[in-house]
Amino acid sequence: MDAISVETSPIEGQKPGTSGLRKKTRVFMGPHYLENYVQAIFDGIGGVAGKTLVVGGDGRYFNDRAIQVILRMMAASGAARAIVGQDGILSTPAASNLIRKRGTDGGLILSASHNPGGPDEDFGLKYNGPNGGPASEGVTDRIFAATKEVRSYRILEAQDVDLSAQGESSLGGMVVEVVDPVADYAALMEELFDFDAIRALFAGGFTMRFDAMHAVTGPYARAILEERLGAVPGTVVNAVPSPDFGGGHPDPNPIWAKPLMDLMMGADAPDFGAASDGDGDRNMIVGRGCYVTPSDSLAVLAANAHLAPAYAGGLAGVARSMPTSGAVDRVAEAMGIDCYETPTGWKFFGTLLDAGRATLCGEESAGTGSDHVREKDGVWAVLLWLNILASTGRSVADLMADHWTRFGRNYYSRHDYEAVDAGLAEEIMGDLSARLGDLPETMAGGLTVSAADEFGYTDPVDGSTASGQGLRVWFEGGARAVFRLSGTGTEGATVRVYLERLETAPDALHQEPQAALAPVIAAAEELTGLRAKTGRAGPDVVT
Ligand code: G6P
Ligand code: ZN
Repeated sequence: MDAISVETSPIEGQKPGTSGLRKKTRVFMGPHYLENYVQAIFDGIGGVAGKTLVVGGDGRYFNDRAIQVILRMMAASGAARAIVGQDGILSTPAASNLIRKRGTDGGLILSASHNPGGPDEDFGLKYNGPNGGPASEGVTDRIFAATKEVRSYRILEAQDVDLSAQGESSLGGMVVEVVDPVADYAALMEELFDFDAIRALFAGGFTMRFDAMHAVTGPYARAILEERLGAVPGTVVNAVPSPDFGGGHPDPNPIWAKPLMDLMMGADAPDFGAASDGDGDRNMIVGRGCYVTPSDSLAVLAANAHLAPAYAGGLAGVARSMPTSGAVDRVAEAMGIDCYETPTGWKFFGTLLDAGRATLCGEESAGTGSDHVREKDGVWAVLLWLNILASTGRSVADLMADHWTRFGRNYYSRHDYEAVDAGLAEEIMGDLSARLGDLPETMAGGLTVSAADEFGYTDPVDGSTASGQGLRVWFEGGARAVFRLSGTGTEGATVRVYLERLETAPDALHQEPQAALAPVIAAAEELTGLRAKTGRAGPDVVT
């Protein structure tokens, strides 16, 4: 087996976004595209000679082929060891756990998260550092710089490594260790939660449906919920990961997880419903007749986490991304703990978790997690909910009602305008940005603007800064609208409008969110002219 050096030249646009590099699968499959980017990662992290990396992905189309290329490139560059999930499968949180547990130099995770998979859909690759979390901005900047310099890459000429059986083999001197993707992760969950209490809950007839959406959490959820916790077989549906996610869109929200929503809102609803995304880091929680918005889920978990063994000593602090609602802020205030507001992207929580300043983190984009790994974690969120339901004996709807009575309700919704012409999206954002200073004390949609700014962030731990992180407009009476361009799309631009309004009147806590938010929705349109300018009747996705 010989390592060869292949000549190449820089490829435009290999700039990592919110969570690594995401492109159409066919782009990734194009000549040298994957190889250039992998070489740039290696160059950006100071080479891989003598290093150990975890490698795995969500099983989407091209996952298996890309892993073989990555392994040959690691071996050619002198890596010592690759720890690979069996069949190339690792959920994102399980990969994060393996990086930490095995003390590796980081890992390469292959996924485009909740985006569809297949030859005409999306693919992605990201590097996570030795703490198990997504690379910091500093590292991704170096990787991007390396993509503009790459002139050659090293790769081994070799046959495919057999990833179908666990055990060790050698690839040109590098050890390839194929591991059970589920075992270490399931063991960690058993340490964090009261499995006896959850087992007793299921034994008492509690019913659940977990929709794995044909994506990576199927094997994890089956092993944990059905085999270890005694949920009846069949609790986990769509449990076999498929390369195109069964032709679906593995994004756990009321639109893409509609069959689960329909079940939970119907007469035969089980007690509890949940879903996770392509790579297993997102979650959706829904009770019987009661959808829990991700921002509320974070707040409820923060208020009740002490009921789980791992968090019995209390939380050091909590953190949320800026567009996430202020519901968790109210919990933090009542508990007397710090609450941090970060830019969108899980990577911004890393320093806070590492420094022990935050224990729980969450985002409106259906991500919740804690300091147990350095990624958001879908199955973890479901287990924490189950632990709380088991400890309190309450239903999801009752827990939500209790929570709103105690803390008030932050009505919340996100409106997405997808595949907008990129130039037009920039223009709409630029136009609002230019007017921010003039907005205070003007009226929009019947509301009075109290303040407006562009969000910028200085990391309280390492002092690094991030600017241009979204436009914020506050209104008198406690409402807010935020405007941001998505950093994870692969087609045109997605404009996200985040709408929020705090309600504390006891008789107004059970309204339909879109109705409760109507004035803020009208104000957002008046401020941007988004519908008018894009020619859309309304948003493509409402969460
Ligand atoms: C990924 C990241 C999240 C982020 C989300 C939304 O899932 O891991 O941290 O919140 O993308 O990103 P976007 O830029 O599309 O709003
Ligand atoms: Zn994901």
